[in-house]
Amino acid sequence: MILLLCCSSAVAILPISCGSGSSACTLQNYQGIWYERALCGVANVAYPTTEAELVAAVASGVQQRQKIKVVSKLSHSLVRAACPGGSSGLLISTSRYDSRIVIDSNAMTVTADAGVQLQDLLARLAAQNLALPCTPYFNGLSIAGVISTGSHGSSLLGKGGAVHDYVSGITIVVPASREQGYAKVIKLGKSSPDLNAAKLSIGVLGAISTVTLDVEPMFKRSITKQARDDSTLENDVAGFASRYAFGDINWYISQKKILLRVDNKVSASTPGEGRNAGNDPAPETNVRQSRVREENFMSQMNASLVCQQSLNGVENRVSSGDGLVNDRSNTFRGYPVVGFNHQLQTAGGCQNTALNNTRSASGERLTCYWDPDVPGQFYFQTSLAIPLSRINEAIQDIKKIRDGMDPTKLCGANIYGGAQLRFIKGSTAYLAEPEDSVAFELLYFRDRRQNTPRLDQDATDEIEQMLLKKYKGRPHWGKNKNAMFEDMGSRVTNLAKFLEVRQRYDPDGYFSSEWSDAVLGIKQNASVYRDYCALEGLCLCKEDRHCAPERGFLCKPGLVFTDARVCRRS
Ligand SMILES: Cc1cc2nc3c(=O)[nH]c(=O)nc-3n(C[C@H](O)[C@H](O)[C@H](O)COP(=O)(O)OP(=O)(O)OC[C@H]3O[C@@H](n4cnc5c(N)ncnc54)[C@H](O)[C@@H]3O)c2cc1C
Ligand SMILES: *[C@@H]1O[C@H](CO)[C@@H](O)[C@H](O)[C@H]1NC(C)=O
Ligand SMILES: *[C@@H]1O[C@H](CO)[C@@H](O)[C@H](O)[C@H]1NC(C)=O
Ligand SMILES: *[C@@H]1O[C@H](CO)[C@@H](O)[C@H](O)[C@H]1NC(C)=O
Repeated sequence: MILLLCCSSAVAILPISCGSGSSACTLQNYQGIWYERALCGVANVAYPTTEAELVAAVASGVQQRQKIKVVSKLSHSLVRAACPGGSSGLLISTSRYDSRIVIDSNAMTVTADAGVQLQDLLARLAAQNLALPCTPYFNGLSIAGVISTGSHGSSLLGKGGAVHDYVSGITIVVPASREQGYAKVIKLGKSSPDLNAAKLSIGVLGAISTVTLDVEPMFKRSITKQARDDSTLENDVAGFASRYAFGDINWYISQKKILLRVDNKVSASTPGEGRNAGNDPAPETNVRQSRVREENFMSQMNASLVCQQSLNGVENRVSSGDGLVNDRSNTFRGYPVVGFNHQLQTAGGCQNTALNNTRSASGERLTCYWDPDVPGQFYFQTSLAIPLSRINEAIQDIKKIRDGMDPTKLCGANIYGGAQLRFIKGSTAYLAEPEDSVAFELLYFRDRRQNTPRLDQDATDEIEQMLLKKYKGRPHWGKNKNAMFEDMGSRVTNLAKFLEVRQRYDPDGYFSSEWSDAVLGIKQNASVYRDYCALEGLCLCKEDRHCAPERGFLCKPGLVFTDARVCRRS
């Protein structure tokens, strides 16, 4: 039935491949390369289709004393969270445990199998005129993967921007004694205190079987994108968060500009069939060419060339609709763009054509911009949550860093849309922020060649380390480089409560790995110290050899935030 060694797959974006290399199968993330670059080997993969099969899979792993991890069909976390560690572990894929969606319109809840993708969940809810107000901006993610990493949209309204804050029930399969058959199902409801651990658990409590979420009557959104200068940004952020239900901000730090998303809730009867076309299928040639272009200008190590690439980025995004279209003709004709909540909140589709080999009229494969087989985009991602009460000061500090250096050094961060600020409400989840906070996110170029210095990496690194150290930024569990997970005990307020639950659910640590022990502050830090480690995001440099001394990149203090240690070209 379920324990099978899966076939090597011909479909590029599937993350599990078997039958080549030293371990039976390997797992990759959606970019095809983990931060550590090393492969993640496993001994076998289970593909349960029902809860009973999920229980059998966990029981089998426990009986064989294997490390166990669950992963979604498309493995969309950059971090090694879904890797069991070693090479003798059991991987449980939810790719075939993705069909059951049960709506209770009296209780206003939906219960979904762990592997259900947001696109299916949201479409089924919409068919019943129901909405899940906030979800991540991509709809190919699985519901269990989304909540397990604390993933979010942006809002301080109602329950807020993070999906786990809508969870009102979870069933989870945990290890058990031999007498109990090696695995058992725990059902957690609204009033179970342990739900505060299980609704955001980075996969270490057990295998989530189903997730129940509170839903709301369907509504529409009305979105307008605006360009502004950043002169009063620090004072304006809190007001934006309260004025616009689902707003967010993209900050082009070097250009002193912001792109504001004015995003409000309007009644479902408001005319408009707007849609976010941002992750529509893309022809393979476009995907390849945009990466080749990026590699070309990044490798010239010329800051002004990089700055040119995003010169009018904010204005162009405003005038083009920034991926939004007004109606079924798929064109942008002006603001506001009005449409159903799920159509504007999350975008997707490229994952489906990549999987089913849909081709364009000219015969080209249609895929996602990050498809590693093309190869497409490849980037580092940093996301740190800062208390809303301190964001004013943090923005002033970032401006000081910018103004203390040649601002062109920060142009690289504009290529992927500038720093993004999104809002998350204070949460009862032990691994989340207890107070309202702002997720501050940066994406930037990563080289496919290992140990390669990045143009002006000291500039973004100084900002990140300032948010990490001075503001105790709490890292997004699914995105960040290893170095962002240092010293977690001081940054995750309710870590001890979470660990107490983990100790009860999985005392022998079947669902824990070196990575999870490190990011939960149990064992050593997640950082890896070796030559070039700071170029790979694996460490904060302490010595020049952690940078690239032979190419002139040395470990230096930050220019303004002098506690930072960054690789700077001398
Ligand atoms: C294009 C794109 C856009 C994104 N946009 C956003 C965004 O807007 N906001 C945001 O916050 N994040 C965003 N993310 C990040 C994303 O939400 C997380 O990385 C999410 O965890 C990925 O979901 P997944 O289903 O692929 O999970 P996976 O990567 O498969 O798993 C994530 C974690 O959950 C665990 N897990 C998965 N299923 C189970 C289960 N059934 N039981 C126990 N543990 C389980 C895994 O072991 C792992 O620890 C985005 C990612 C991509 C690729
Ligand atoms: C860097 O790029 C700019 C803009 O394209 C160009 O004018 C300049 O000559 C380049 N500098 C070097 C050293 O190549
Ligand atoms: C493939 O996916 C696309 C996008 O979702 C869909 O329109 C199309 O019908 C699918 N084709 C097949 C053969 O499943
Ligand atoms: C983790 O890193 C922090 C900051 O560098 C350091 O203070 C702490 O001692 C480290 N902890 C362990 C267990 O190595």
